Amino acid sequence: MKRVLSGTRPTGILHLGNYFGAIESWVKLQDQYECFFFVADWHALTTGYEDTINLREYTKQVIIDLLACGLDPNKCTIFVQSHVPEHAELHLLFSMITPLSWLYRCPTYKDQMRELKERNIATYGFLGYPCLQAADILIYKAELVPVGEDQLPHLELTREIARRFNYLYGQTFPEPQPILNTVKVLIGTDGRKMSKSYGNTIALSEDLESVRKKVMNMVTDPARIRKNDPGHPEVCTVYAYHKIFSTDSVDEIEINCKEGKIGCVECKKKLFDNLAKFLEPIQNKRRELERNIDYVLGVIEEGAKKARTIASQTLKEAKDRAGLL
Ligand code: TRP
Ligand code: SF4
Repeated sequence: MKRVLSGTRPTGILHLGNYFGAIESWVKLQDQYECFFFVADWHALTTGYEDTINLREYTKQVIIDLLACGLDPNKCTIFVQSHVPEHAELHLLFSMITPLSWLYRCPTYKDQMRELKERNIATYGFLGYPCLQAADILIYKAELVPVGEDQLPHLELTREIARRFNYLYGQTFPEPQPILNTVKVLIGTDGRKMSKSYGNTIALSEDLESVRKKVMNMVTDPARIRKNDPGHPEVCTVYAYHKIFSTDSVDEIEINCKEGKIGCVECKKKLFDNLAKFLEPIQNKRRELERNIDYVLGVIEEGAKKARTIASQTLKEAKDRAGLL
């Protein structure tokens, strides 16, 4: 069975964008492959080392989110990156063989340096972000990595590092391939790209009253002033959400909107009902997990143990190949 690995950074609690961008596919993959899913707390430090007040809590909350969404510790291995120190040691080995030019030319490095100007991320650790990610993947010799398009440069670098290691020290690592998440991209409640920095997300654990307000405030087709004006669903944020949350009535909504037979308020109410139907089971599971925090801590302890069994074998092999005594 092929091995799958993916991670998510604990920069906040998970929102609908994270769910459709990654978690939904992880839940399916756990039935098809040997899967490892982890919370990348070291990666969160690369850009967030100045303020770590919430890091521990976010890490725990993301684990709870993952379990509430249906990741099952009996089917996959769930752990916290920093609980598996082998990642860091392999990262150190990789740092010896990775040319600086590969890291400087990585598009995510250049983008983030421009975007996160207010933070001082001109650090050694941040430059090495892809090198750590390569270690995350290769320490399990994972062959498949489900990621969004933004992560493709990191996967390319992972393959380059694997190739270089194999060339220098003998065949050790496979070259992992992405499983591209082409499914659904959910826009933010304001119609822009969904992002925590825009404040336009809906958290998986968000209070339903707050979800209702966000839905009722969504921007609709500006050409619709009266209820029977013909609408253009393709420019409407509410419609974009219906496509994901109202799959069985989306065609009807499209026609009724275009023919001016449904008002935007009614249309939003329908969306809220379907969103609530989607969120409720996740939130119920979440509350149950929060009451059983010892169970959650047991899951990640067990996860780290399972992960380390494999990680320590790979590390031993890699150190040996690299000539360490
Ligand atoms: N860089 C990834 C992100 O920001 C998170 C991540 C860290 C990751 N290590 C990984 C993803 C290994 C896949 C495989 O989303
Ligand atoms: Fe958008 Fe619905 Fe209004 Fe059409 S009826 S513009 S889809 S909210």
